[in-house]
Amino acid sequence: MCGITGYIGDQDALPLVRTGLQNLEYRGYDSAGIAADTGELSIYKRSGKVKELLSAAPESADARRAIGHTRWSTHGPPTDTNAHPHTNCDGSVAVVHNGIVENYDTIKDELADHTFESDTDTEVIPHLISEYLDDGLTPADAVRETVNRLSGSYAIVVMVAGDDRIYAARNESPLVIGHGDDGMFLASDVTAFLEETQRVTYMQDGDLAVLSATGLNLYRHGEMVDPEIETLDWEADAAEKGGYSHYMLKEIHEQPSALRQTISGRLDVDAGEADLELAIPDEYLQSLDEIQIVACGTSYYAGEYAARLFEELANVRTTVTIASEYAVNDSRDPWRTLGLAVTQSGETADTLSAIRTASDAGMKTMAVTNTLGSSVTRETNESVFIRAGPEIGVAATKTFASQVATLGMLAVAFGRKRGELSRDRAATVLENLRSIPGAIQQVLDRDQQIGAVAEAYADSDSFFFIGRHLGYPVALEGALKLKEISYDHAEGFAAGELKHGPLALVTGHTPVLAVLTEGARPQETQNNVKEVQAREAPVIGATTSDYNRYLDETFSVPDVGVFSPLVANVYWQLFAYYVADLKDRSIDKPRNLAKSVTVE
Ligand code: M6R
Repeated sequence: MCGITGYIGDQDALPLVRTGLQNLEYRGYDSAGIAADTGELSIYKRSGKVKELLSAAPESADARRAIGHTRWSTHGPPTDTNAHPHTNCDGSVAVVHNGIVENYDTIKDELADHTFESDTDTEVIPHLISEYLDDGLTPADAVRETVNRLSGSYAIVVMVAGDDRIYAARNESPLVIGHGDDGMFLASDVTAFLEETQRVTYMQDGDLAVLSATGLNLYRHGEMVDPEIETLDWEADAAEKGGYSHYMLKEIHEQPSALRQTISGRLDVDAGEADLELAIPDEYLQSLDEIQIVACGTSYYAGEYAARLFEELANVRTTVTIASEYAVNDSRDPWRTLGLAVTQSGETADTLSAIRTASDAGMKTMAVTNTLGSSVTRETNESVFIRAGPEIGVAATKTFASQVATLGMLAVAFGRKRGELSRDRAATVLENLRSIPGAIQQVLDRDQQIGAVAEAYADSDSFFFIGRHLGYPVALEGALKLKEISYDHAEGFAAGELKHGPLALVTGHTPVLAVLTEGARPQETQNNVKEVQAREAPVIGATTSDYNRYLDETFSVPDVGVFSPLVANVYWQLFAYYVADLKDRSIDKPRNLAKSVTVE
């Protein structure tokens, strides 16, 4: 969704902010803008792509501070006027904002003598700041007072003409500060400035940051605090395409290395132990009655996969709820119920809201996330990182694999601590986990075959994905991937459900993609394959063993036990990719979608 970038320091700020905006494009947006200090605050804004803004703005301006924004419309359509930055009446205060100011109407009414140009909620912010400046407040105090008046979620970044600082504040919307060699960076996510510095400070809700060319003053709830500086271990080129035509393709191919990172140092196969450095006491896990997973989209499907593993390996009842539908059932004992948020970004508003609900009900909460310092890590009692590295493509690929692998390790750890999982069974599952990167590599090595199959079926009317047990979430995820990047109609079904309705839609022009691997009850699914073939549907099967006799196309999957469906999923990712590529779709930034969905 919206993205923020900024720089203050000894370098010319404009080229850095231009690059920052390009790095943020993957988040999804529909207009963009820049404010640069060129002696006055020069504002450049354009609806449409960042490249249109960049051709309208100068490449350099000898500016020592600048801020930039990519906007994903909520209040008002994507026009030049509605693009950020927004300014006050005389253009002396410039603001970029992510989130929603819920009380903007009330504030606007109070500012009756101000002239507003846009339809946005954001525009009240610079006007309100200028009121406080007129009252004699310093810029820092004017920003602080303004923030105190806002309700809703926001990350705001402010420049005032004639001043030499950048001000930033956040509430429920991420902001991260980068400590460079010759200046300070600021962004809604680190990919904006990853090539410049990996030394970062994550802002927290209630923080006010005052950035100057020489450093950072950080105020937490009014008190100055020492900023905590973390050093990321993400390679700068991890956020670049590295020779692939799309980030998505690169990220699909990165899965073996991402998974090696995910499991590195965490498995003791012989002992049957997975060590995720959990602080959660063993006694708590032993008395646990239920895990309630909350997540959205692909992370929800990873949660569905995990629920089956928690039930099977740790013998603990596990529910999975789409985060926006989550409510706490009063009959549960909160002390014996764990709320588990699965979110790669750690910033998904629906997931954050659901995990807060769990926390408010008295549950212990845990996050499985890719993003150090993200909001979910502060909202939960414990965080486990999936270590997949930055994922730029809007379509989640490697993070799904790393989520499932991490949750699989958690299921083993819980099973062992609860005394529900034997050492031998745990060792087998961990050995399977260790084998996933090699198994996925074998799938990736067949990507020409997948491209050819995709070409043969790309013009179908609709695509059905089916699977059972661990193959069911993979069917759902396969369909989501195809629909979001190719814009073709695709649905995922529990294989046994077809005959209860969806079979009516099956014709010779609806290819059915079936998961027929270990862990996905292939024997039973084979009956469903025959059902659809009797209606002339071609069947593409991802299969581990002997279930290829009736298939029209066979994708063979190495047997890695309960993780075999996860490996089959890589076929579905590549299938979706090649279908979308043939149709020349905007694969990394599909229409209407955003990487990080920070509104409810
Ligand atoms: O960052 P999150 O994992 O919380 O994101 C949740 C969904 O928005 C996300 O998984 C989305 O469904 C995928 N980008 C689809 O490929």
